[in-house]
Amino acid sequence: MADVRLTEIRKSFGALDIIKGVDLSIETGEFVVFVGPSGCGKSTLLRMIAGLEDITSGELTIGGSVMNDVDPSKRGIAMVFQSYALYPHMTVRENMGFALRFAGMAKEEIERRVTDAANILELGPLMDRKPKALSGGQRQRVAIGRAIVRNPDVFLFDEPLSNLDAELRVHMRVEIAKLHKTLKSTIIYVTHDQVEAMTLADKIVVLRAGVVEQVGAPLDLYDDPNNTFVAGFIGSPRMNFLKAQVASIAPGFVTVSLANQPDVQLRLPAAAPSVKVGDEVSIGVRPEHFRAAGQGDADLVVAVDVAEHLGNTSYVYAHVSAGERIIIERAESRSAINREKLTVGLSAASSFLFDSAGTRVR
Ligand SMILES: Nc1ncnc2c1ncn2[C@@H]1O[C@H](COP(=O)(O)OP(=O)(O)O)[C@@H](O)[C@H]1O
Ligand SMILES: [Mg+2]
Repeated sequence: MADVRLTEIRKSFGALDIIKGVDLSIETGEFVVFVGPSGCGKSTLLRMIAGLEDITSGELTIGGSVMNDVDPSKRGIAMVFQSYALYPHMTVRENMGFALRFAGMAKEEIERRVTDAANILELGPLMDRKPKALSGGQRQRVAIGRAIVRNPDVFLFDEPLSNLDAELRVHMRVEIAKLHKTLKSTIIYVTHDQVEAMTLADKIVVLRAGVVEQVGAPLDLYDDPNNTFVAGFIGSPRMNFLKAQVASIAPGFVTVSLANQPDVQLRLPAAAPSVKVGDEVSIGVRPEHFRAAGQGDADLVVAVDVAEHLGNTSYVYAHVSAGERIIIERAESRSAINREKLTVGLSAASSFLFDSAGTRVR
């Protein structure tokens, strides 16, 4: 087990700057998830930690040792990829032991490690099968087993569940969470799926275009996002953003009026507002934070497009005006939403204020 530190890490491919100065501390035993949209640089960052990509500049340490120029095999890491990349002609047992045989480990030790990993992953009955006789989930478990037998200081996972169907993904997500509880090892896990990030991580690192937007515990990011990018990325359905304008500022408060319904004003707490009267801003409201009419600090009338009843909850797709679409969650109501107009309450305490650049105003 080891900690991992990144200091001012950069990566360029030719003239393209892909990773633009990442500082990050990953503690021993921590489960850290890199999340962000496709192409933001998650895999590149992980591959630099693994040693599969050169680091253009900055410093990487694992367990206190600088690893920038250390061979991947000497970094104490094991990586699990999206594609399982099992050897088709080898059995599960042979696949799992391959790297150890290659490293010249004694036969008994290999057997012991492979058996331990097989027990942890419940692969026992499958040990003599070839990969083609396994389901996708079983293959991915073998790929994870192959990492476990190496007893690495740090596990690196790159979208390991992306090739699995939805049901299996949920199942394997739980398996990986259990694995972390059992092994207590340091894990760095890449995904574009914010639900995976929320459910697995001790700490989430939100990346956008090679820059870390925010680092924090899942619920801290959910409750206290720094900007509209993080606010919109974490949470499903995503946070609504209503265009607004600053109407007045008083000590501790900013009062805004909605751009598309100017008679609706909301007085939001802000200790050190970085906006001025007349500024364009946006109000972030999570779907579940709309109240019933009259139950919030202001009422908003919306036109209903569609209501989806999922049994445990309902989502109302509506708009304030053309172009400003919102999603409202109604946990209490199954049927009474198929009206044309709906009045919902806005609560100042559970709304977020962002400036025109998308930065949170606090
Ligand atoms: N070998 C490479 N040469 C040039 N560009 C690359 C190379 N590898 C990745 N990139 C680019 O770097 C960016 C980040 O890629 P990647 O790290 O794979 O993103 P993610 O894993 O977040 O989807 C993308 O724009 C991708 O096209
Ligand atoms: Mg990737």
